[in-house]
Amino acid sequence: MRGRMTTKMSTPRGGRPRRSSVAAGFRLLAALGAGTLAATLAPSAAMAQSSGTTEFAAGSAPLLADPQGTPLGTVTPGTPLTVIKQTGRLAEVRIDGWSMAGAETVVFAAKGLRIVLAELSADRPANRTVGARSEDQYGGVWEQVTVTGWVSASDLVAAVEPVWQKAHVLFAQRCTKCHALHQPTEFTANQWPHILQIMTKRAVLTADQTALVTKYLQIHARQPGTPATGPKGPGPRR
Ligand code: HEC
Repeated sequence: MRGRMTTKMSTPRGGRPRRSSVAAGFRLLAALGAGTLAATLAPSAAMAQSSGTTEFAAGSAPLLADPQGTPLGTVTPGTPLTVIKQTGRLAEVRIDGWSMAGAETVVFAAKGLRIVLAELSADRPANRTVGARSEDQYGGVWEQVTVTGWVSASDLVAAVEPVWQKAHVLFAQRCTKCHALHQPTEFTANQWPHILQIMTKRAVLTADQTALVTKYLQIHARQPGTPATGPKGPGPRR
């Protein structure tokens, strides 16, 4: 394992570099009753407190503050969205997640787990409800958030698997030009974004493709505390 397993943590936007309590995040997810992270980010977690149906963002999707189209932010590919109501071409949706104090515009999947569900371009209190606050094991303050907004109905899919299949095809095509295909389980969800900052530039991916491959690798990543699996690619280790 050496030092690399603990040093490659992403830096919260606007915050100082800090290790995250990813293990706590996974424990939380496990407590919600799903065996794997992928399964957890599929319906069960989001539906726990919901009356609506759960659908998923087919790709990077614009999030609107109201049906008139006021911009609110962007939802990342595969994010579970609770559909509150559907009116013609638009659906009113809810996103349940966590934000870090000082970086309130980013909605993550769980406390200490830096899988981005949505990024808000504007702080609109009417669309963002803040719940319980709690600290991760390194003293980072997180708050539970619920964001409501509108997305185009055409950006929603009923099942998430096709989103990850599309991501896998892109990953397999574009990430094997210089080395053998790496395995998602070589790194944890919190380690991947740092590596991908460099690799997606090397693979010349668009912003939407970067979001898709990043989310795919994070959702299928190694859980902290379990050994890395899969062959290490060739090339010098950093
Ligand atoms: C233009 C060549 C190129 C492309 C395209 C490329 N990589 Fe790499 N990758 C490298 C090189 C070179 C290394 C060796 C380490 C270094 O120089 O950073 C590497 C290393 C890695 C590592 C190991 C990192 C570590 O710290 O052990 C991973 C994981 C990885 N690449 C993933 C990807 C993914 C995912 C993609 C597609 C988005 C990708 N690479 C596309 C050149 C490339």
